[in-house]
Amino acid sequence: MTDLTVIVLAAGGGTRMKSKTPKVLHRIAGRSMIEHVLTAVGALDPVRLITVVGHQRELVAPHVSQLRPDAVLAVQEEQLGTGHAVRIALEALAGAPTDGVVLVANGDTPLLEAATLREFAAAHRAARAAVSILSGIVEKPAGYGRIVRDDAGVVQAIVEEKDATDDQRAITEINSGILAFDAAFLADAIARIGNDNAKGEYYLTDAIGLARDADLVVTAHPIDDALQTEGANDRAQLADLGRELNRRIVTRWMRDGVTVMDPATTWIDADVVLAPDVTILPGVQLLGATVVAEDAVIGPDTTLEDCEIGAGARVVRTHGQLAVIGAGASVGPFAYLRPGTLLGADGKIGAFVETKNARIGDGAKVPHLSYVGDAEIGEGTNIGAGTIFANYDGVAKHRTVVGRHAKTGSNNTFVAPVTIGDGASTGGGTVVRRDVPAGALAVSTSPQRNLEGWVLSRRAGTAQGDAAAAAVAAATGEQSENGPGLGDDPAERAES
Ligand code: UD1
Ligand code: CA
Repeated sequence: MTDLTVIVLAAGGGTRMKSKTPKVLHRIAGRSMIEHVLTAVGALDPVRLITVVGHQRELVAPHVSQLRPDAVLAVQEEQLGTGHAVRIALEALAGAPTDGVVLVANGDTPLLEAATLREFAAAHRAARAAVSILSGIVEKPAGYGRIVRDDAGVVQAIVEEKDATDDQRAITEINSGILAFDAAFLADAIARIGNDNAKGEYYLTDAIGLARDADLVVTAHPIDDALQTEGANDRAQLADLGRELNRRIVTRWMRDGVTVMDPATTWIDADVVLAPDVTILPGVQLLGATVVAEDAVIGPDTTLEDCEIGAGARVVRTHGQLAVIGAGASVGPFAYLRPGTLLGADGKIGAFVETKNARIGDGAKVPHLSYVGDAEIGEGTNIGAGTIFANYDGVAKHRTVVGRHAKTGSNNTFVAPVTIGDGASTGGGTVVRRDVPAGALAVSTSPQRNLEGWVLSRRAGTAQGDAAAAAVAAATGEQSENGPGLGDDPAERAES
């Protein structure tokens, strides 16, 4: 809106958080509280956005600038009240706006929605009001400014808790803190607000009395959904609002065609994107910028942060971060996907597999008990169970490249940097230290020797020895074919 100015107040201390982190930087649903507010007000496309910072502004200001590089930061050195904060905000502009609407919001109301602000601003304009209040009817009004109306219902003033009479304290219509002003009125009124009150603060809410004194229109619009304007002042409230916001996000996705088996144990951040016909099983957290395509099934018990999951993929009991999983691929159970994991279409990262900075081709499989770090695996290749991509020599990380349609044996170690060619094979237990040419079979284990009768002579009288003796006795007919057993040659014993 070309005539809309928004002021977000975020200079206050937030001591009840008992935190080194400023209150408005505490996060729910993957965003800081102030990010939720900036997202909601930003959707109105204001021509000017000012954020008032004070307490711990060395942390709050860069955060706001990163989210909204266009935001004007107004510094309020001392928190002398909301009226003072708005004065500072207007002074931070080259010239305070004298036409249009100024909307004031608080930085700690994470459930606030753009649609609510749009309706409120429209109602304010329609009423041609000097000031409009987004109010709320609440069961426990303690702590809030009360909306005082006359017998005809016309708003007369906002009275702060500490300045209120007993009768006024009984009023359940409260000031949410979100106010809309006619810009010209605000520019004039802000300078006339004093601090002669119980808290000795400059109350922005005194502007209502000033408007009424001048016979200007003041309206209050009770919001149905009072949680939208509720702030989180301590960790318990933060968790309550976080759970409620999550409930709203999960409900929205279900309405958009996502199956969620257990909404209570499903956590979806605000920026996650899900396609219709995704299925989420119990105990799943989808965090950050995670995107899941249609027909994928996630869970149970899976956490994915900033991951991209392809259509029809299956991700079971997995912890993933910055990984891309192709369409139709299968991951888990008990997989750990670290940043830079790219699994191709119809590929597999199976049970007890850890991957990092690994590009695994279409249809390629790492099915069991492996670590794949700093690797490239070609399409259709199968990595044997229990394979370690030894990427770290204690000083630097190195890369392993495995070609297309290779089949590597179980319990291999690939000592990077090393390359295994297209269509190559490796034997079980191979330690690959040198490149394997395309189509070759690499083996590094020495031939097996069987020391016949070793147990019979060295473990006689134990359960093992008895079992061996019984088996040998039962097979006496074949004994002679097996050649001589282990004699008492000390050299052979030492090696065994
Ligand atoms: C204020 C309102 C009250 C309303 C309540 C809603 C006034 C005088 N009172 O109460 O009617 O019901 O909000 O939550 O406006 N802030 C600054 N600088 C300051 C003081 C506050 O930036 O000097 C910011 C805070 O960081 C916060 C917001 O303004 O984001 C509201 O401040 P807070 O102290 O919580 O509000 P109250 O004065 O208690
Ligand atoms: Ca307060």
